Amino acid sequence: QSPKWTGQPIVLVGLMGAGKSTVGRRLAIRLGLPFVDADTEIETAAGMSIPDIFDRFGEAYFRDGERRVIARLMEGQKRVIATGGGAFVDPQTRAAILDRGYAIWLDAKPSVLVERVSRRDTRPLLRGRDPLAVLEELARVRNPFYATAHLRVSSHRAPHDATVNAILKALN
Ligand code: S3P
Repeated sequence: QSPKWTGQPIVLVGLMGAGKSTVGRRLAIRLGLPFVDADTEIETAAGMSIPDIFDRFGEAYFRDGERRVIARLMEGQKRVIATGGGAFVDPQTRAAILDRGYAIWLDAKPSVLVERVSRRDTRPLLRGRDPLAVLEELARVRNPFYATAHLRVSSHRAPHDATVNAILKALN
């Protein structure tokens, strides 16, 4: 039995391609809440794109910005927050989200995710690598962390509205 949503900020976690941004935006509309994408906030704060942050300053610098941005978002108003796939793996970020928010894991198999991530080339962790192999490795390492979220929802189904409906049903 998953713990009940008691009005905390809703935080979507899960691997790249799980649909965190799309599902988050639509879920926010259905709940009448604001939506914010943590990756976009990091890009705005840094004044450059995520690939540029990775290229110029490295992943550790990105994770640092991500930690600060999410800490700030967790202090704020009730809303729906999409996070980047690595955010919930960071111990400090995960603690902040679990403490102050309601974490929802959008769970999908690497074989499904790979189809979705291939449509866009904005992910530094996938560049020049076999995306399926990377996603399988990330799933192995990260799924135990994602599993600590308050709620787990399968995001295998297309379109994403099916996932949004499943979340709304679980929240009520
Ligand atoms: C990352 C996922 C990306 C972005 C960055 C790192 C990761 O976000 O934060 O490229 O570590 O999995 P999405 O999950 O929205 O693609």
